[in-house]
Amino acid sequence: MSSPEPALVSARPRILVVYGTRPEAIKVAPIVWALARRSEVTVEVCSTGQHREMLAPVEAALGLVPDHDLDLMRPDQTLNDLLSRAVVAVDRVLTRSRPDWLVVQGDTTTAMAGALAAFHRRVRVAHVEAGLRTGDLGHPFPEEANRLLIDRLASLLFPPTARARDALLAEGVPAERVLLTGNTVVDALERIAAGLGPPVERDEVLVTVHRRESFGEPLARIFRALGELARRFPATRFFYPVHRNPNVTGPARAALGGLPNVELAEPLDYVALVERLRGCRLVLTDSGGIQEEAPTFGKPVLVLRETTERPEGIEAGVAALVGTDPERIVATASRLLTDAAAHAAMARRLQPYGDGKAGERIAAALAG
Ligand code: UD1
Repeated sequence: MSSPEPALVSARPRILVVYGTRPEAIKVAPIVWALARRSEVTVEVCSTGQHREMLAPVEAALGLVPDHDLDLMRPDQTLNDLLSRAVVAVDRVLTRSRPDWLVVQGDTTTAMAGALAAFHRRVRVAHVEAGLRTGDLGHPFPEEANRLLIDRLASLLFPPTARARDALLAEGVPAERVLLTGNTVVDALERIAAGLGPPVERDEVLVTVHRRESFGEPLARIFRALGELARRFPATRFFYPVHRNPNVTGPARAALGGLPNVELAEPLDYVALVERLRGCRLVLTDSGGIQEEAPTFGKPVLVLRETTERPEGIEAGVAALVGTDPERIVATASRLLTDAAAHAAMARRLQPYGDGKAGERIAAALAG
């Protein structure tokens, strides 16, 4: 009896990791590092280039080198234009690379396009940062819908927190597809912070605002509040690296450009942002990532949004939801800048979003 021919090469799972914006690059990097350490898998990295200038410095800081760079960004791109071009472009990579898994992160147009393209090609989707919910399709827009839809398409879901896991289970996702991992942003942050010297403390408020649902009147209200705060606290510096979206840059310059203690800066690379975050007194932001990062350094966060899909920091007392109402923003920020006890109560170092080992857990699940 002849024995069957042994396979010449054992099939190693092929994993394609797709990202396109700055926060996705930060959050997939620890997964790519962990996958690259495993000889039992083959990993390829694809950037859609949904962001261009804002992506490159983060890729450099985190050592992310895409095997496929789709270079899709157009000035003032619409959601549908970008989505349609991204589906087609990722599809081409799928037909060439034939991965066993496609990994997407979060809730962006890139993540949505990657998941849909893979689903149509019957490639299994793994969703990092699954299960975050506000329950309101208008906030964040369109991200709440993107995240929900990707969760429906995914074969493996990696919620970062117990709350996100419970949301998925409550929606009927089978428990065997769900793995609680922590958020990979903590892994990335630990790696960056390890290379920095002691923080330089400054009398500075770090501001970031970019959300699509705030464009127009809500953004104008936020900027009115910032202007009022800058006038009330002339010795405090308001440092605001401005997102490159023209819907943000124009109104930011018009409303705040003339104020001596407001610095409207270019977007920062990740290392510089982490430096600024470690040294500031207070953070005003609508960014999801910064909500997750600030408690690591014990910095109070005022969330400039009506709802958040990341309530863990608020429940822990280190963040507060202040919305876009100028009076509320000014009153809450003023209190934290003048009342040391109120500030100290929120300035606690804790990490409700992860333990720095999420990338390794995700890589192990994909390899298994
Ligand atoms: C996207 C994500 C959002 C994420 C944010 C992080 C979607 C639907 N939204 O929003 O969830 O929080 O990224 O920044 O995917 N631009 C440049 N250079 C850059 C980047 C952007 O000029 O490097 C300008 C372009 O005019 C571009 C515009 O910003 O058209 C909007 O970029 P886009 O990625 O479509 O939306 P974001 O608001 O960045």
